[in-house]
Amino acid sequence: MQHFIDLADYSSAEIRALVARALELKQEWKNGGNAPLLKGKVLAMVFQKPSLRTRVSFDVGMQHLGGSALNLGPDEIGLGKRESVADVARSLSAFTQGIMARVFDHDHLTQLAEWGSVPVINGLSDLQHPCQALADVLTIHEVFGKVEGVRVTFVGDGNNVAFSLAQAVAYLGGHFTLAAPRGYEFSEERMDTIAEIAETTGGTVQLFEDPQDAVRGAHVVYTDTWVSMGQEHETQRRLRTFQPYQVNRDLLNCADRDAIVMHCLPAHRGQEITDEIADSRQSVVFQQAENRLHAQKAVLVTLMG
Ligand code: CP
Ligand code: NVA
Repeated sequence: MQHFIDLADYSSAEIRALVARALELKQEWKNGGNAPLLKGKVLAMVFQKPSLRTRVSFDVGMQHLGGSALNLGPDEIGLGKRESVADVARSLSAFTQGIMARVFDHDHLTQLAEWGSVPVINGLSDLQHPCQALADVLTIHEVFGKVEGVRVTFVGDGNNVAFSLAQAVAYLGGHFTLAAPRGYEFSEERMDTIAEIAETTGGTVQLFEDPQDAVRGAHVVYTDTWVSMGQEHETQRRLRTFQPYQVNRDLLNCADRDAIVMHCLPAHRGQEITDEIADSRQSVVFQQAENRLHAQKAVLVTLMG
């Protein structure tokens, strides 16, 4: 594994190994601290969009492993604007041992990898959020002891978070269902990508328009914002379209009795999820947030160690 950009590039065994490594690193941290596997190494963090969890968990993760991280915000390096992506990639490769980037255009990540000579990590793009998905399958594994056979229903927009989660769940033999309004579901190409992975692991992938049908029997009910970063101009239309997809008590009553609720955060309480559910005992949203740290340490050690 050279980069961590697109989950489709990896194998089920590689994803399993990352989850196992994350569990080890989490235990090691809880037992007193991680070994300085990245001593003296520097991670460049390029942000074209805002972030709390991604920014802090990568920075703290590098510190726990004996390295450090540099935060480069949108006004600083002007990726693809002040300077070409290729020149940014080659310059950062001269100074640092890894690049984590949060971008609008997914192609900017592949260009960073193409032109740079250090590992590139996807900290979210318009198409994917693989670091989130890794933390999410780690969380599902902690709760259920496995991902295999677990029924995961994502309710809302078939967005970057949903797509990466579907891939990660499929790699680990889980059953993924998306409940989305027409026009916001996965494309045929995305469905094929997920189905191809699921075929090798005994997993499945399904699409529903009706959220109640989709969550019937689900062990995990997952949601994310209806308006992703960069889609703010579509806010009014999206808020109207997604209203029936709110994760609330009525919807959760259709899921398995012991279902857990997941959200990558930030949550728009009162929109895609109610306060009552986000703060209920079924909610594992802050366990997910913490697991960003442990999952990403596994990625950092694998790529930069
Ligand atoms: N879930 C997530 O990526 O959070 P941030 O946008 O705060 O990094
Ligand atoms: N789908 C959201 C996720 C934020 C972590 C976005 O792209 O804005």
